Amino acid sequence: MVCINRRLRSDLASCAARDSEGLAQAIEDAVHARGLDIRVERTVCMGRCNFGPTVRLAPGGAFRLGLTPEEVDTFLDDLERELGLKKERSKINDLPPPGS
Ligand code: FES
Repeated sequence: MVCINRRLRSDLASCAARDSEGLAQAIEDAVHARGLDIRVERTVCMGRCNFGPTVRLAPGGAFRLGLTPEEVDTFLDDLERELGLKKERSKINDLPPPGS
């Protein structure tokens, strides 16, 4: 989940004011490029406005605060390792080709 909330008062911190939509796009692009089975959801305020952009693993997972687009690849590398996604993908690559 990526918060793209913009608070009405411009003097209050918000994720959108810190380009969280650009971050969401960078995450979506990287997830697609890697072929990961992860859904990226743009969402409303998660109450961490002063530390955003706010990203949270769902359901009920850890927050990742202040992530930048430049850090997305490292973030996804860690996530793949943590969730064992590369292992799952390699299992698929170990399957025999169709028709064999
Ligand atoms: S505006 Fe993003 S956590 Fe509040």
